[in-house]
Amino acid sequence: MRIGVLTGGGDCPGLNPAIRAIVMRAFDYGDELVGLRQGWRGLREKETMPLTLELVEPIIDSGGTILESSRTNPVKDAESTELCLDNARELGLDALIALGGEDTLGGAHKLCARGLKCVGVPKTMDNDLSATDYTFGFDSAVSVAVDAADRLKDTARSHRRVLVLEVMGRHAGWVALHTGVCAGADYILIPEIPLDRDGLIEHIKEIKARGKHWGLVVVSEGVKPPEVGEGEKHAKDEFGHEKLGGIGGFVAAVIEKGSGIDTRYVTLGHVVRGGSPTPFDRWLATRVGIKAVELVHEGKFDHMAALQGNQIVAVPLADAVENLKTVPTALYEEVKTLFSQ
Ligand code: F6P
Repeated sequence: MRIGVLTGGGDCPGLNPAIRAIVMRAFDYGDELVGLRQGWRGLREKETMPLTLELVEPIIDSGGTILESSRTNPVKDAESTELCLDNARELGLDALIALGGEDTLGGAHKLCARGLKCVGVPKTMDNDLSATDYTFGFDSAVSVAVDAADRLKDTARSHRRVLVLEVMGRHAGWVALHTGVCAGADYILIPEIPLDRDGLIEHIKEIKARGKHWGLVVVSEGVKPPEVGEGEKHAKDEFGHEKLGGIGGFVAAVIEKGSGIDTRYVTLGHVVRGGSPTPFDRWLATRVGIKAVELVHEGKFDHMAALQGNQIVAVPLADAVENLKTVPTALYEEVKTLFSQ
């Protein structure tokens, strides 16, 4: 078979190990692989690259994606959709494996409905895709964020300051929640829970009153300050998503004003998307990559390879992209006990 492979949306550690696994498994079947550069843009503009064993063999430990990525929406209008379908035919693709999050896989699902034979591989550092327990990229991102948080605690302690760490995650607070718990944060703010300004200030005052002169607060980029309405302030990308970032400064100002403690903030941003994937992400990426090739050969299109428990299973793309997997209130309440004293 002749199989196209692309990586779309924000990059994250694990993409290269997944590409590697796809290529290695596909070669077992004698398949021919066509790399599409920069996500759906590669299909729309027919920009391809060969995927060889020599190229992929060493990339188990490398961050980023050798195929490059972009936030190109293949189905943004009828012209783009037709162009993608025509180009897939011209390139002689029997199937296409798309590695991505809700946008990339949403595009794959819509193109499947038009006859393109797509299989998905879930990836996102946000961990917000439904129908899979975890996505690769998340563990690596949290590892980097926890390391940063641990460093910030050192300097916070030395200077009797509060340090606010802002992390990515878009509309889901998974990265902030895991980072905050694993770094022993004094408070965690996530988009799923409305910002309780008074509660935050009260808690920082309480820790000071019991003799702790420093603090760490982790905030997810998707948290909205009360005075900013939906859609305000930020520009949007091709999928209509706001380009987030900046809430850390607001939270730091609120804390300093309300508690009187010297407060600084750090926006980690894209730092968590770079670097070598953790062993967990290498393992997960490898397994979903292998499974994606199996799905192609089983003819199970419009599905993605998902982690459920310890098994890698096929789930319909529709189930993965229908609703975002956000942090349940009950889970937040459960861990809130760690920053309620
Ligand atoms: O979806 C992954 C993510 O890193 C989000 O956490 C973040 O909001 C967004 O991508 C940033 O996108 P870009 O790389 O386009 O700035």
